[in-house]
Amino acid sequence: MIQLKSTAQAKNHACLIWYADNDLQTDAAGLTPAEATFVQKQFDNKKTVVEINRLTSWVIVVKPTTKDDATTDREAARKAGHSVYQIFKKYEIREAAVIAQSGASRTADFIEGLALSTYQFLRYKTGADDKKYSFNALQIDAQSLTTATINKLQHIVTAVFHARTLVNEPVSYLTAEQFSLEMQQLGSEAGFKVEVLNKTKIEALKMGGILAVNRGSQRPPTFNILEWKPENAKNKKPLVLVGKGIVYDTGGLSLKPTPGGMDSMKCDMAGGAAVVGAMYAIAKNKLPVHVIGLVPATDNRPGEDAYTPGDVITMFSGKTVEVLNTDAEGRLILGDALHYAKKYDPELVIDLATLTGAAVMAIGSHGCVVMGTATDDLVALRTAGNAVYERTAEMPFWEEYGEMIVSKVADIKNIGGREGGAITAGKFLAHFIDYPWIHIDIAGPAFLDAESNYRGKHGTGTGVRLLYNFIESRING
Ligand code: BES
Ligand code: ZN
Ligand code: ZN
Repeated sequence: MIQLKSTAQAKNHACLIWYADNDLQTDAAGLTPAEATFVQKQFDNKKTVVEINRLTSWVIVVKPTTKDDATTDREAARKAGHSVYQIFKKYEIREAAVIAQSGASRTADFIEGLALSTYQFLRYKTGADDKKYSFNALQIDAQSLTTATINKLQHIVTAVFHARTLVNEPVSYLTAEQFSLEMQQLGSEAGFKVEVLNKTKIEALKMGGILAVNRGSQRPPTFNILEWKPENAKNKKPLVLVGKGIVYDTGGLSLKPTPGGMDSMKCDMAGGAAVVGAMYAIAKNKLPVHVIGLVPATDNRPGEDAYTPGDVITMFSGKTVEVLNTDAEGRLILGDALHYAKKYDPELVIDLATLTGAAVMAIGSHGCVVMGTATDDLVALRTAGNAVYERTAEMPFWEEYGEMIVSKVADIKNIGGREGGAITAGKFLAHFIDYPWIHIDIAGPAFLDAESNYRGKHGTGTGVRLLYNFIESRING
């Protein structure tokens, strides 16, 4: 895990990063005239990161491109951070120091991009070669960023790493019960409360959606309740974050094809991981806000007693659902969690889920599909999404989509047909709310097969920074 530290001695470091997003002050950077000319030439050739190898030391000069657009400029700074990490990796540099030139902005974004790039998931690699390099510590000039900002960044990056690791862990390790244990560990480390309802309790409460999905599994489900309630909370009614916690989605009897369909489905608890990560960052940074996280967890499998297409189930809320595809399971466990959220009389509920392939078809992995009833909050979420570059694309939420899930035998059915699949899934969830609500479908960006700059490959931790920034802006503004 990368450590971000404040220092007054950055200048003397053997690997110095000089971050300049205005005109390069070559004297201040300690460059010789020849080096200054070299760097300038590289910048003129549109390079943004230039390395000067002085044999016993390095200077890496960074100047991200700017277009006078806050969203893209901040992202360019993060991507420059990722480019610097490529240099670290090439030379196996394990420690470095950063100085931001006076007047530089977006220093925190640069460091965030650099720090997020250092993530590795090596638990199941046994070869020494795979494990031989990792970046350890970044010293940050005390004049360039305050210790408060450095600590905040550290907590956010750590939270994202925890979310990524939870997603990357296969179901051979991360069963629903193990997922709960991990939440408890992170809760005690960060200071938020975790209550785990076991199968007996879930049965007693008659959470019919969770129990139906769990029927094919050899392992019990869990229902996890996370809470951060500081004394100085600014909100009277809590914010509730709900995350889909399908620790593996085979599709159930409506089995997914493999390869291509099923092989990455350990990622189907990424919504739950994002909620846990956001709670971790909020608690670590002691945000004055009352937040509750709800994560229903189970795997979805075709066992002997698995629920079947044609089944009618009674949800926790009492509504009946005709199951026409056991692969549309996320909405069933989320429906129960959304109904549970009513007891808090929440100010706003946000759910995150790798819910539909249709969301991936609509916008790919470059953002999150969003919809809901909290119109103003959706605008604020878009602003937060642009700031952290976890952008949101709002879908229409017209009532006609709701007509597509009316059932002939039960109140509703769990699939809506070929068209508008991300939206009909959202309309299903809307049957279980009575409060302002946003639904975020992260099926596209949650898990990437190929590396994508500082997001890395595989679990990305999508949603952690989005939720954190949204909530922080909401209580500060
Ligand atoms: N977990 C999947 C959705 C998914 C797809 C997540 C791709 C990540 C990447 C979800 O449970 C699912 O299978 N949804 C079905 C719903 C359909 C049967 C109505 C889908 O989208 O195909
Ligand atoms: Zn599914
Ligand atoms: Zn699923």
